[in-house]
Amino acid sequence: MRADKIPAGSPRGKRRVTILGSTGSVGCNTVELVEAEPDAYAVEALVAHRNAELLAQQARRLKAKFAVVADESKYRALKDALSGSGIEAASGAQAVVEAAAYPADWVMAAIVGSAGLAPTLEAVRRGALVALANKEVMVCAGELVTAEAKRHGARLLPVDSEHNAIFQVFHADHSHAIDRIVLTASGGPFRERALKDMADVTPEQAVKHPNWSMGAKISIDSATMMNKGLEVIEAHHLFDLESERIEVVVHPQSAVHGLVYYSDGSVLAQLGSPDMRTPIANTLGWPNRIPAPSPKLDLAKLAKLTFEAPDPARFPALRIAREALVAGGGAPTVLNAANEIAVAAFLDKRVGFLDIAAIVERTLEALSGRRIDSLADVYALDAEAREVARRFTGNRAPSGASRAAFG
Ligand SMILES: NC(=O)c1ccc[n+]([C@@H]2O[C@H](COP(=O)([O-])OP(=O)(O)OC[C@H]3O[C@@H](n4cnc5c(N)ncnc54)[C@H](OP(=O)(O)O)[C@@H]3O)[C@@H](O)[C@H]2O)c1
Repeated sequence: MRADKIPAGSPRGKRRVTILGSTGSVGCNTVELVEAEPDAYAVEALVAHRNAELLAQQARRLKAKFAVVADESKYRALKDALSGSGIEAASGAQAVVEAAAYPADWVMAAIVGSAGLAPTLEAVRRGALVALANKEVMVCAGELVTAEAKRHGARLLPVDSEHNAIFQVFHADHSHAIDRIVLTASGGPFRERALKDMADVTPEQAVKHPNWSMGAKISIDSATMMNKGLEVIEAHHLFDLESERIEVVVHPQSAVHGLVYYSDGSVLAQLGSPDMRTPIANTLGWPNRIPAPSPKLDLAKLAKLTFEAPDPARFPALRIAREALVAGGGAPTVLNAANEIAVAAFLDKRVGFLDIAAIVERTLEALSGRRIDSLADVYALDAEAREVARRFTGNRAPSGASRAAFG
């Protein structure tokens, strides 16, 4: 990192960092990059949900000032594991927000789900560089988050590989000359599976992503392709483009992550191996480039890159998400909350795989026409949508009976 790019106020020229969700898949990759360059970074705070043991290990290794577990029942375990280290420990939702308030120049938002909204907003309101992995935050409250970022001079740095790709080739000064962008999708583990065979897939099969190693929730979202739907909404907010100008193309090799079509016919794309350390490093070093240990893309070895249109019949979630984006108001908030509930129920084996999209669609129908004017509205609608979606999940087994209920 060049000294002239280091934000003022950083101790000994280090970039001060906080990692929200440090024990997760994105979080651990971030920890690895930070740990590799101890002279470049000073760690302010780390946050996890329940994994006090790993959190304490990370906090000790990175010499963090503050470590927080959201789950209050894990406080004692965290406190004991940090005993004698001088690192402050805390627990609970308010402490998570306090962690985001620590004076980090750069904050990784990698909590999963809308639980990440309050701490992400806290970092945004401090005017920090916010590396945004948590797409659910943008889906449930994108307009509020982007407005707050503008008001407080915060910079949102997209971490999702597709959005990070677009971010790298999207020349904002020439945005009038951008026709559309393309997000690529691997197609997930069931890309070639017949619809009739998708009804009985298990969570164990669904979390096995062919190219990426990720947390359980996003892996299921990838299998249903709701992930790409959430990403279309995220891209809408990050790049200020309407749904028709955000295309999705299935690209099973996951080498091309995103493309920008310019009006002169030029298409700029970003490529790389499917390894989250590359987009994370792109945001961690931003505006400079720093090394990442990701395997370098070997095009000759890949031999061919293929592209195909997504299949709307087998992957209805993408259509449902687009419809929510076009409907606007509270629809994306409802979509996100219902999806979080449906995915949790699927992971719990209480509903079947095809029920996920059906539950989301039913919840959207039940709560259509809702408006969002404030953060309080987001929280209220998120809670209501969870309640409605929960009613649709019930305690059903993932059997034919369950599918019939949504058929
Ligand atoms: N994984 C990827 O490659 C990838 C790529 C692009 C975007 N993303 C996005 O990045 C986010 C994180 O994904 P992931 O795959 O890293 O998820 P993950 O492996 O499940 O990790 C989630 C992290 O959030 C923490 N957490 C969960 N609930 C929390 C709460 N209520 N309060 C505080 N912390 C909480 C978890 O702590 P515990 O460990 O204690 O449970 C963990 O550290 C998601 O929004 C995902 O869509 C991920």
